[in-house]
Amino acid sequence: MNSSASTRELQRIIEAAATSDGAGVKLRRSLGAQPGLRVDPFLMLDEFSSANTDDYVAGFPAHPHRGFETVTYLIDGHMLHEDHLGNRGDLRSGGVQWMTAGRGIVHSEMPQQEQGRMRGFQLWINLPAREKMKPAGYRDIQPDEIPVVELPGGGHAKIIAGTFDPKVVGPVHGLTTEPTYFDVSLPPGAAFSHPVAAGHNAFVYPFEGSVSIGGRELRAHGAGVLGAGDAVEVLAGSEGARFLLLAGRPLGEPVAQYGPFVMNTRDEIEQAIRDYQSGELTRVA
Ligand code: FE2
Repeated sequence: MNSSASTRELQRIIEAAATSDGAGVKLRRSLGAQPGLRVDPFLMLDEFSSANTDDYVAGFPAHPHRGFETVTYLIDGHMLHEDHLGNRGDLRSGGVQWMTAGRGIVHSEMPQQEQGRMRGFQLWINLPAREKMKPAGYRDIQPDEIPVVELPGGGHAKIIAGTFDPKVVGPVHGLTTEPTYFDVSLPPGAAFSHPVAAGHNAFVYPFEGSVSIGGRELRAHGAGVLGAGDAVEVLAGSEGARFLLLAGRPLGEPVAQYGPFVMNTRDEIEQAIRDYQSGELTRVA
């Protein structure tokens, strides 16, 4: 049996670009850095990492969303989330906030620290047309709810979403896009391999060290989009590596995006803007 026959190749690299968002938080954006630069169903991936307070302290004051999900994974730091529905949650090192904007949310994400490192990711995952107008919802996932698996080749993986094996399932499951979201740490030269459903799109985002996939190097701060296959094999470089593995079922639907609104058509975007301006977007049914 040749298991490598269906191993996914590294197809293209989306280097992260320096940008800022919210009230001036400095970040690196790979997916979403340019219109159309997506890996269906993933719309955007932002990495923020700084020990300089000025880079993050202004945070993300109140802003709207409609039509997709935002996932904030905080590796180091402390943020407070509040939304128009009255939800309020502390996000601390190692925790995740999984927010389904659905028909509409207005929320803020503000740092609760004035010094020290703030590091983490925000990922946007699209919703299918029939779920874009469902009620908003969110979950605060505490660090101890996220399984940590020791890997046979060394290192470990945190299973935020998806299935590592039948006994280890992340706290987020049951979504239409069936997301896999792992945070994998490998010592120098260690290999990580894992099945990825053949119909899913997948990418690897190293944020410490570097990896190679099928002999091709992928350095930190670039999204390595994988080709077809049913497994991924990642080899850590000489300094070891820490990377995100993200995979999901593509929706194959048209995407119309305007800032924080992601719908299927231009008309739906215009409706979202009107609904935000009129207060309909945040009307509690
Ligand atoms: Fe947001």
